[in-house]
Amino acid sequence: MNVAADQYAVMGNPIGHSKSPAIHAMFAKQTGEKLRYEALLVPTEEFSEAVEQFYSNKGLGLNITVPFKQDAWNKAERMTDRARRAGAVNTLWKDETGALWGDTTDGVGLVRDITVNHKVDIEGRRVLVLGAGGAVRGVLESILEKNPSAVVVANRTVSRAEELVKLFGELGNISACGFSEAEGPFDLIINGTSASLQGECPPLPQTAINQQTTVYDMMYGVEETVFNRWARERGAQTVIDGLGMLVEQAAESFSIWRNKRPETAQVIAKFRGE
Ligand code: ATR
Repeated sequence: MNVAADQYAVMGNPIGHSKSPAIHAMFAKQTGEKLRYEALLVPTEEFSEAVEQFYSNKGLGLNITVPFKQDAWNKAERMTDRARRAGAVNTLWKDETGALWGDTTDGVGLVRDITVNHKVDIEGRRVLVLGAGGAVRGVLESILEKNPSAVVVANRTVSRAEELVKLFGELGNISACGFSEAEGPFDLIINGTSASLQGECPPLPQTAINQQTTVYDMMYGVEETVFNRWARERGAQTVIDGLGMLVEQAAESFSIWRNKRPETAQVIAKFRGE
């Protein structure tokens, strides 16, 4: 008799273009884990029911993406400290008592991609983070854990950046400002705004970017992102997109569920080549 494979899924809306099923299928093959991972389109008002249904059908673990990361945070019965501060959950699982746990792996994924894959140090460096929405809130703790000399959070709406400074202030040297006040130089600039989606770039002062600045856009696409092209035109020589972060956050979720860490380099290379 065939034993059914363990069930995993990603829930989001939209979900059609998600790379997560392909990434996790590659991780499963590589580690010899027998599992199935599918993408589930969930209607915006039905997140909670969808999670319950998934678990009543013996599902084991879920990834949660836009727009449900905050709903998942509300739904989790227990969560890691990093998820609590992030205000978002992208990974759900049940422990042996049946309690629903939440974690967020985006921050670890981002930092691993920067420091391990791209060998760019954060420790002792001046870091500019652009944006103050959920994407940025989800990664600030992991950035601060690496002991940068300063983190400046710049946002169009400065009050949102100030809120993040209140939330994360005890973890390190972090300050808030508007884009035009973000005077450099910076060693690392991380773009967590969605401005590129409107084809816009934040109006940073000339001093923010120079040849030594590493620029990381949390977005990615087949084409170079609008932000990274703009940064290169301003002299940045190292520009990185968010594909590695996507694969690394998936690897972290996989490790939580299966207690095995997959190799990411070959998976990133595979997607890069497509
Ligand atoms: P997410 O969860 O993806 O972070 P969000 O909470 O809506 O989504 O946040 C989007 C971020 O992109 C915010 O920092 C937003 O700036 P505001 O807080 O001022 O709204 C930023 N953003 C979106 N469009 C932008 C644009 N055209 N120029 C600059 N920043 C923009």
